Amino acid sequence: MKATVNGIERAIGEADEGLSLLEWLRERLDLTGAKNGCGIGRCGACTVIVDDRPTLACRTKVTEVAGKAVTTIEGMAAPDGALHPLQRAFVEHGAIQCGYCTPGMVLRAHGFLLKNPAPSREEIRRAISPNLCRCTGYQQIIDAIESAAPAYQCASDTSER
Ligand code: FES
Ligand code: FES
Repeated sequence: MKATVNGIERAIGEADEGLSLLEWLRERLDLTGAKNGCGIGRCGACTVIVDDRPTLACRTKVTEVAGKAVTTIEGMAAPDGALHPLQRAFVEHGAIQCGYCTPGMVLRAHGFLLKNPAPSREEIRRAISPNLCRCTGYQQIIDAIESAAPAYQCASDTSER
């Protein structure tokens, strides 16, 4: 079995088959951006993107992503290290305090903006509701997502041409 992680094909070995996606990413691939906050699907800290959908890696078996494309926070920046516009917006709006929720929050928002590049603040608030920020910086997080939305509108305009 194989999955594509951040654009690179990765083997899912027999010894990996009992792992969650979160364990596989963190322990086998050393991609530690996705966090183990609760391990039971309640906090969103482990959110990654699987085939464009935000997915809780702690509640997903690694075998479920065979043949699929996984994006983690490590795959958001450009190869030259330039931050993705959404990551930049989080920095510019002070939407990162301790940072523990940030990878999951960014990927939750990324999956949402891919589908809805012109959201209202209320839609953003609802979209990120599965993800908890223990530092409670929700206003800045919503500001950041709102300000990054135009970058997604440009991308969808281009792909429609
Ligand atoms: S660690 Fe997966 S939802 Fe909390
Ligand atoms: S920034 Fe600390 S948990 Fe969100």
